[in-house]
Amino acid sequence: MKNNIRTKLFVGLSLFTCMIVGLSWVLNTKYLENYYMKKKRESLIQYGKEIEHMFKNHEDHMDNEIERIENTIGGNITIYNPYFNHRGGMGFSKMGMGMFLSNKEMKEVLEGKRILETFLHPKFKVKFLVHAIPLEGDNILILQTSIGAIKESVEIGKGFHVYIGMLALGVGMFLAIWLSKTFTKPIVELNRVAKSMAKLDFSKKYEVKANDEIGQLGETINYLSNTLNHTISELNEANEKLKEDIERKRKIDLMRKEFISSVSHELKTPIALIQGYAEGLKEKVAEDEESQDFYCEVIIDEAEKMGKMVKDLLELSQMESKNTTIQREVFHIDELVEKTYKKYKSIFNDRDIKATLKKSNKNVEVMGDPSKIEQVLVNFINNGIHHIGGEKNINIYMEDHKGKVRIGVYNTGDFIREEEMKKIWGSFYKIDKSRTREYGGTGLGLAIVKSILNLHHSNFGVINRNDGVEFWFELKKYL
Ligand SMILES: Nc1ncnc2c1ncn2[C@@H]1O[C@H](COP(=O)(O)OP(=O)(O)OP(=O)(O)O)[C@@H](O)[C@H]1O
Ligand SMILES: [Mg+2]
Repeated sequence: MKNNIRTKLFVGLSLFTCMIVGLSWVLNTKYLENYYMKKKRESLIQYGKEIEHMFKNHEDHMDNEIERIENTIGGNITIYNPYFNHRGGMGFSKMGMGMFLSNKEMKEVLEGKRILETFLHPKFKVKFLVHAIPLEGDNILILQTSIGAIKESVEIGKGFHVYIGMLALGVGMFLAIWLSKTFTKPIVELNRVAKSMAKLDFSKKYEVKANDEIGQLGETINYLSNTLNHTISELNEANEKLKEDIERKRKIDLMRKEFISSVSHELKTPIALIQGYAEGLKEKVAEDEESQDFYCEVIIDEAEKMGKMVKDLLELSQMESKNTTIQREVFHIDELVEKTYKKYKSIFNDRDIKATLKKSNKNVEVMGDPSKIEQVLVNFINNGIHHIGGEKNINIYMEDHKGKVRIGVYNTGDFIREEEMKKIWGSFYKIDKSRTREYGGTGLGLAIVKSILNLHHSNFGVINRNDGVEFWFELKKYL
């Protein structure tokens, strides 16, 4: 049998029922007869007193009354005079009223003693309860009743009680089953909810049916479940955020380390060159003026490169620091493109570059920092000039593109491989190191462009086109 509350309650209630039925049976068999006897004695004494009283007052209907009492108690009543047999009723002398009382006892009664005793009928072996009272004028009142009937009644009562007991037991068992079921159901339900909660499943709720203590407990558990659910999900969120923060910090740390190693690596070459050429000058390695000039030029050149790099780095770090905002103003982008293109005219001529500018619109207004946008354009054009090849064409265009202005710089030359396309936007990344070094590139140009365009929330990218590459960016039109 399962050791659960339902079984316990059932067993408890069943035992209780059995105990009550058993106890009542024991009391019934043991004490019912005595109780009957007691009641019989009391009634004989009571009637005895009543008749004694009537006799004293010489009441008229005494005979009728005595007959009535005889019928009520189911016995006989005699008023007996031992000196001459006198009696109120009829024919009782034939039963031999003196038969139970000895002469000595009669004498005692006549002297004033009251007797209440049980006697065995010598012939019929039936027990009688006899009550004798002294009356005036040497009369004795004798009330007697058979107590065989009492025994019989008790036996019948016992038999009946067996049926009652069985019925009570049946009803008791039924109630025990029903009660244990209805009482334990909500507790089992509560237990189920609490177990799910222990497994951090807060979807199960207790259905509150009654407003009793169990119902209230159910409500409390539901409340607890909700609060726990809320708190645990908040904790989880905070934990997630913390993990993200740690990850971000780790990445930033890594980036910073990479950046510092890149910077020192980038500075190594010019410093070594400057140091070498300066030492050469000091030790008079260059004898003629021309080579001395060359030495000096290298030193100046390398110093310039270092200067540019420091300037770029400063600019980049400024833009990447979180609280940077750009100066926003509304300006005509077509004019800015035109102006920049014109600045490059002579350089294109000098280098035999065939350059074109195509603009689909005029007076196109955008919002942003014009000097920074110019910087983007300059970077793209410079890169185009430095990486030009093939037919030596540079085409700059400005057109409407899905409600935005799109500006592109195309140059003929080598394609950029797919895997390089993402990397070129990072600091210090150069595809061809020696070529970049020739024109004094640091690999920071596109990183600065990316920062500027991110601050403008612009789209940008690079595409390989026929015989060359195109760098592009977009700006939202100002409406
Ligand atoms: N138009 C282009 N054609 C081919 N490769 C290009 C072009 N533009 C950029 N690249 C490649 O991308 C790299 C990164 O360009 P980025 O402008 O960031 O640096 P840089 O030009 O080398 O130096 P900086 O612009 O700081 O002087 C270049 O070194 C080059 O290899
Ligand atoms: Mg560049």
